Amino acid sequence: MNTITIALTKGRILEETLPILAAAGIEPAEDIKKSRKLIFKTNQPQVQLLVLRGSDVSTYVEFGAADMGVAGKDMLLEHGGRGIYEPLDLGIARCRLMTAGLKGQSTPSGRIKVATKFVNIAKQYYASQGRQADIIKLYGAMELAPIMNLADEIVDIVDTGNTLLANGLEPREHIADVSSRVIVNKASMKMKHAHIQSLLDDFAKAVV
Ligand code: PRP
Repeated sequence: MNTITIALTKGRILEETLPILAAAGIEPAEDIKKSRKLIFKTNQPQVQLLVLRGSDVSTYVEFGAADMGVAGKDMLLEHGGRGIYEPLDLGIARCRLMTAGLKGQSTPSGRIKVATKFVNIAKQYYASQGRQADIIKLYGAMELAPIMNLADEIVDIVDTGNTLLANGLEPREHIADVSSRVIVNKASMKMKHAHIQSLLDDFAKAVV
């Protein structure tokens, strides 16, 4: 049987993914959370794991460098889904993609500046609302942008809302619900169908 490579998203999603892998009988050969390695063998000789930034998981799967992956829906929407199937919602790491701005300050009419790391999502969202937006790409700490007058609004993920609150911002419009999904490279799905389908069945059983 061919090797199946599964690309995982590091951080909170990884912590919630490992128990699902364990329930499906996949245990990393060493402690992923304590290691600086990026590639891990498992107790199943035909399954190996990669640990990546969420924004890179869909790229690895798109190009077939990984057969499967686990990534947040936010990252999948931003990537656009080329070459990828999204067969299973794991229901973990739930949050929302939202617009946000300074508390008590209404969104200016006309052209606005929007800071975000989700450039494609933001472009599509504001276009769908018929609003003109100049998108400013940031890599983190989006909440600072309205405070420092870099942008009128941000597009970011909101979980508890504490980060917005702590920085004097408020959520405005809901763009999408987010949870982590299993993704599969389209060619791998054909070439390695039996093995991938059996893993998908095991993951699905682990999350009901
Ligand atoms: C995310 C997001 C917010 C925060 C929202 O950051 O960018 O800053 O979580 O969570 P809350 O609503 O519960 O406060 P994360 O910690 O994932 O790091 P990031 O900056 O790398 O996205």
